[in-house]
Amino acid sequence: MIPKHIIDDIMATARIEEVIGEFVALKKSGADLKALSPFSQEKTPSFYVSPNKQIFKDFSSGKGGNVVTFLMEHEQCSYPDALRYLAKKYGITIPEEKEITPEELLQANEKESLFIVLQYALEFYRKQLEETEDGKALGKSYFLERGFREETLEKFGLGYAPNSWDQFGSEALKLGYKAEYLELAGLSKVNEQGKRYDMFRNRVIFPIHNLVGKVVAFAGRQLSKDDKGPKYLNSPETPVYHKSDILYGMFFAKNSIRIKDKCFLVEGYTDVITLHQAGIENVVASSGTSLTDGQIRQVRRFTPNITVLYDGDPAGLKASQRGIDLILAQGMNVRLVIFPDGEDPDSYCKKVGGQAFETYIEEHEQDFILFKSQLLFGETGKDPLKKAEAVKSIVASIALIPDPVTRTIFAQECAKIMEVPEQVIAAELGKARRKEVEDSSRKALEAAEIAEQMLPDEEIVLSHLTETEKQERQVMKLVIRHAADPFDEERNVAQFVLDEIHEGLEFTNPLCANLLEEVRKALSEGHVIDATYFVNHPETSVNSFAADALQDKYRASDRWQEMHEIPLIHEEDNYKLDLHSAILHYKIRKVEMVIEANLKELKEAVEEEKITELMEKQNHLMSMRRALSELIGATIIK
Ligand code: UTP
Ligand code: MN
Repeated sequence: MIPKHIIDDIMATARIEEVIGEFVALKKSGADLKALSPFSQEKTPSFYVSPNKQIFKDFSSGKGGNVVTFLMEHEQCSYPDALRYLAKKYGITIPEEKEITPEELLQANEKESLFIVLQYALEFYRKQLEETEDGKALGKSYFLERGFREETLEKFGLGYAPNSWDQFGSEALKLGYKAEYLELAGLSKVNEQGKRYDMFRNRVIFPIHNLVGKVVAFAGRQLSKDDKGPKYLNSPETPVYHKSDILYGMFFAKNSIRIKDKCFLVEGYTDVITLHQAGIENVVASSGTSLTDGQIRQVRRFTPNITVLYDGDPAGLKASQRGIDLILAQGMNVRLVIFPDGEDPDSYCKKVGGQAFETYIEEHEQDFILFKSQLLFGETGKDPLKKAEAVKSIVASIALIPDPVTRTIFAQECAKIMEVPEQVIAAELGKARRKEVEDSSRKALEAAEIAEQMLPDEEIVLSHLTETEKQERQVMKLVIRHAADPFDEERNVAQFVLDEIHEGLEFTNPLCANLLEEVRKALSEGHVIDATYFVNHPETSVNSFAADALQDKYRASDRWQEMHEIPLIHEEDNYKLDLHSAILHYKIRKVEMVIEANLKELKEAVEEEKITELMEKQNHLMSMRRALSELIGATIIK
């Protein structure tokens, strides 16, 4: 448990715009910041961050809340993990938490258990590299020979897996780590004879980190070409390691990518590390597989500019075209640098040094589309059939670019390079675009359907609520926005609402009812309740409700207006009127419910006396209703 005062300290120190800015490329938009939603695939930004209110709201997925909610959603981590991340970022010390015992490990959930096991493995391999004879002689010397410096080994967590069948696994088991999680993480396995053995043996180890810097997997490289097995062995997919969502080096690169507004994409682990060492930090690796949409989206959070650094041969280049087409389709600007034959970024950088390497990139960086045109044109020669095919292939790439102006410019350039009339390219482009638009609108439709199924959006929340609950939410939203603002001479808004929602009129919606009770208690204990109280609330349901209430008053009022066809007045100072009106509506709704119940009873009643009594009650209720309606009318006209 993290002590309450530390949590308060973290919440008071953390700036939501800084934290989210590490994951998402935020642009200024009035008082707010906005970006493409990191939770869905969208082309126009609908993700808002408010530095003033310290909330975020994502209109495409409906998610919203405070900085902790964001981390929990985005990194799929627990509440304490999100707090720990913030504490680390802002230099806040969380008092020593006691060591995890095997029993506690048992209770931790699967993902957390995996993280624990992976962290242990990282430390094991590090220790082997730094402290054992074999580790130093085989592992460390391998890295040093490749030119990696001590601090680089530490930064990237590079390690060594000993040449033993089961040393890692048996030590881990002895320490109380569970076989189940060692196996799930792919670190230890059991063969058909029931013998336990380690996945990584006699290999140097490259840990793979997720966006927040937690180790989620490993790659083990053989020490020499003659060793058995593949050059690199990679951890399997696990609940914390989805290969298609991870780019190697992203955790170390993200800041630099944002600052330089550009991302270098390389193929290998060693390329990333060598470039880092040379001071080029905005670099990530696809790890030898073709790129996925998820990986590209991750880059796009930080920059729209990606430069692919390729090792030489055109055959490999052709093979990677699908990946590049994916990048284009996400509206990114793709450039390409080709290295001299036989060199990869790692070897070339080592050969010429960081400075000359950067100069080389500047001088050789070319736009992908133009490069592709030249490449294909060079191959086709005079053969008209081949040329037609080449044109189609290039046009297919151009058609993927979402922006029409960029598309047209490329079409013109490529017509020049290919020596074909512009109209020919334009006509082909028209055809290809139609297909692309069909494909992408189909995809958008599918995405929307999926999103809808998992959408905690307000609209959907509302659609499950009774009329009464909707009114309650409306009242609570005003409490969230104006709790500490004055209502009359004696009371602030929170106190007024507490007085109005008295016994017999209690809220029925659990969220609203509990929250109001909490406010009652907090006020009676002398705490100050204002918007920050709700935004910083540890319950996700509360802080995301607060984000809904605070994100855009106009939107909220519009909906309210739609719901009741009442012309509400929007200005900030009219919160008292809004509140009056919201409470009156709530009361009317309550009275209506009693009326309904009373009517039902009336229909079933047989005794004369009972009927008279119910009739009287009915009249009384009806006049109450009328009085409330008149009050509403008066409130609105005032
Ligand atoms: P490379 O063969 O280019 O390796 O594979 P490299 O990164 O340059 O490594 P060094 O410099 O020879 O040590 C590129 C990437 O492809 C993946 C790895 O991610 C590697 O970094 N790969 C390659 C594998 O996953 N398995 C393999 O057997 C080979
Ligand atoms: Mn290499």
